[in-house]
Amino acid sequence: MPLFLESFSGLRVFDTSYRSEQLSQKACPHQDPCKKSQGRDRELKIIIPAPDCRIVAGRRKTTETSNFGVSKREGHDSSKFYSRKLYYNNKGDVSIGSAENTVPPEYVDRILCKSSQNMNELPDSCIHLAVTSPPYNVGKIYDQDLTLAEYRQLLKAVFSEVFRVLVTGGRACVNVANLGRKPYLPIHSYVIADMLDIGFLMRGEIIWNKGSSAGASTAWGSWQSAANPSLRDTHEYILVFSKGSFSHAASTRQDTISKEEFLSYTKSVWEFPAESATKAGHPAPFPVELPYRCIQLYTFRGDFVLDPFCGVGSTCVAALRAGRHFLGYDTKQEYVDSALRRISKEDMT
Ligand SMILES: C[S@@+](CC[C@H](N)C(=O)[O-])C[C@H]1O[C@@H](n2cnc3c(N)ncnc32)[C@H](O)[C@@H]1O
Repeated sequence: MPLFLESFSGLRVFDTSYRSEQLSQKACPHQDPCKKSQGRDRELKIIIPAPDCRIVAGRRKTTETSNFGVSKREGHDSSKFYSRKLYYNNKGDVSIGSAENTVPPEYVDRILCKSSQNMNELPDSCIHLAVTSPPYNVGKIYDQDLTLAEYRQLLKAVFSEVFRVLVTGGRACVNVANLGRKPYLPIHSYVIADMLDIGFLMRGEIIWNKGSSAGASTAWGSWQSAANPSLRDTHEYILVFSKGSFSHAASTRQDTISKEEFLSYTKSVWEFPAESATKAGHPAPFPVELPYRCIQLYTFRGDFVLDPFCGVGSTCVAALRAGRHFLGYDTKQEYVDSALRRISKEDMT
């Protein structure tokens, strides 16, 4: 429920980021000194560190978008920024209903060997987070040889289904790499355009810096010459979207993220090594660390996590470790079998 909060500067602060049941836990530690320094008889209804307030020499100071930028933004009033023409016609939170359904019991913690272009076994609005890495259409053994338009159509069909099954406020994290050099194919920009077209709201993008684990590519183009040097990508993207609303109704759900994890995972550059294909038994696995971070950041304990291209089940393993439920889809039986083996090992530990 949106809240109007009385701030120390006398401004009314419209805050949607705190849930009513959290208010008592998140009370401002500066309550007493701030009250005294005000010396007014105004009754402060709820005192929390509202987004537009900073404590400066014992008083809160409101900051807003400035011409010169600000060094820290945690107490920033962004309403001026969002009222600019840049944001005209941009969808913010939209009302698409908040009812949640449950995943039928026979699909809880399961991996299905079928195409995720059709997830008709799932009702609408039953999944809290999708984390996935789509096939790249580059000639891996599971890849078809699709034109760019056909490839985008395949991904769009799957992500439309993901949109349907996500709850309002549910998130989708899509790990993609760009391809080729002549020309470079900006797959991530096509995925962004298609996700927006489906109706997703974009939350941000994470650059996954794979560092030295990205391998010492020797595709230099022209060695030590400006004739035609090539960039050697050592990064991939994790594109993050929401369905319908940026916030996820918390009700009685429990967060499990630690302070250190939160400080680290909210940064837009992540650094951890890639997974070895040989070790994972899959040509293009992502490390469990990748879905684990997304799960910790974007879901509550017991939430439901979907991977529509689940390969050898890295997302499912991460979900298990984080105490979430999972459902995976893959069209190759051998990957489904490997995933099930990995999951049963996790269950035993
Ligand atoms: C990049 S891999 C995902 C690897 C996974 N993240 C892991 O760590 O094992 C993409 C997977 O999508 C699967 N796939 C391709 N088309 C599919 C479809 N239409 N439905 C479901 N899975 C599909 C492939 O078999 C492949 O395992």
